This record gives sequence, structure tokens and C-alpha cells, in this order.
Amino acid sequence: MAAIRKAASIEGSKLRLRNAVEADAAFIFSLRHDPARNRHMSATSPVLDDQRQWLERYATDQGQAYFIIETLADAQPLGTVRLYDAQGDSFCWGSWMLEPGAPSFAAIESVLMVYRYALDLGFTSAHFEVQDGNLPVSRFHENFGAVRVGHAGGQIQYSLSHENILQSLHRYRRYLPGGIQYRS
Ligand SMILES: CC(C)(COP(=O)(O)OP(=O)(O)OC[C@H]1O[C@@H](n2cnc3c(N)ncnc32)[C@H](O)[C@@H]1OP(=O)(O)O)[C@@H](O)C(=O)NCCC(=O)NCCS
Repeated sequence: MAAIRKAASIEGSKLRLRNAVEADAAFIFSLRHDPARNRHMSATSPVLDDQRQWLERYATDQGQAYFIIETLADAQPLGTVRLYDAQGDSFCWGSWMLEPGAPSFAAIESVLMVYRYALDLGFTSAHFEVQDGNLPVSRFHENFGAVRVGHAGGQIQYSLSHENILQSLHRYRRYLPGGIQYRS
């Protein structure tokens, strides 16, 4: 059966997804509180230590995998992404943020890595939410074939089928030509 698992480090083409740890609290905090980036994100505590404590609890939480997106070449942190809420063969992902000024390949490569990883974990489809008005992100997902399946609390609910995940991995394979590699 499909299950979310943490991975210490997943390497793609130019990016690495590295398991988030308490030492990442300040980076995540600054991203979550960056007005240029957080308009469509749910608010998190204004207290840095709450972020650290969240990461401390996360370390023992078997149901989610939270990654720092960083450059493969020099481990520069660029953003975050998280897999959570497994429902049968479908996984949810979100907390997707990139620093302003992140290189333009980062969005697409990080998403392809998430889907590749989720397939490796045994998932066959995905679900996620996008806030009303977050049009670039809605367009990004719809371009991957995501379909709107509901709407609640100011969030559009999407789902992405196995076929569309596979098609997108294929269509955008030039962004992740060698797939992903796991490092411990
Ligand atoms: C969501 C987020 C991580 C996406 O990153 P981003 O860099 O803004 O992503 P973009 O959609 O601009 O795509 C980046 C580049 O990839 C290109 N791109 C996007 N999708 C592509 C596709 N399917 N094929 C080819 N290129 C693509 C874009 O054209 C863009 O290129 P450019 O920089 O030359 O214009 C970022 O906008 C962010 O942190 N937003 C705030 C938080 C947020 O809203 N998160 C989502 C919550 S659901």
C-alpha cells in the first residue's frame, strides 16, 4: 500500500529535496513571513520558536515528508515543499514556496521530483488545494492536467490522475532527464 515516507535527500537534475530539520526553522520562517510570497499561504505563527517546535514534532510524524528545496551544486536553500494527507492511493502536496529570485527551472523541477517520488512511494494520483485568486499556481497545476473537483473555505480543490502525472513527467522530461536519486 502507498505510504508517505521521509527521505533524507533526493537529488534531481539541478535541485535537491532535503528533509527539513529544526535547523531550517529560520529559513522557513523568513519564507512564510515574506509578504512577496505568503499572500496565498495559510498564516503561520509570528514566533520563530513555534516554527522550530513544529519541525521538532514533524520529525516524529510518520505521515508527512517536508523538504527544503535547494540547489544541487551548492546547497543554497530555495524553498519548501511537503507531501502529506495520504488517502488510499492519492497523496496531497503543498507548502510549496520558492524564494523570490529562485531560478526559473526550480518550480517545474521541484514539482516533477515530488511526483516522481510519490510514484516511487506507490501513489497513483494526487490531490491539493489552491487559494482562490492564486491564478499563476492554478494555471501551473491545470497545465499538468489537474482538474477542479471542489471548492471550500476559499480554496479550490484539485485532483490529478495517474495518467496526467505520467504524461506530465514525460512531457517535461527535459527538466528531469535522469530521474531522481536517493541519498542517505
Ligand atoms: C508557487 C511557486 C513555488 C511557483 O514558483 P514560480 O517560480 O513562481 O513558478 P512559475 O509558475 O513562475 O514558473 C517558473 C518558470 O517556469 C516556467 N514554467 C512554469 N510551468 C512550466 C511548464 N509547464 N513548462 C515550461 N515552463 C514552465 C514559467 O514560465 C517560469 O519561467 P520564467 O521564470 O522564465 O517566467 C512560487 O510562485 C511561490 O512561492 N509562490 C508563493 C507561495 C504559493 O502560492 N504557493 C502555492 C500554494 S498552493
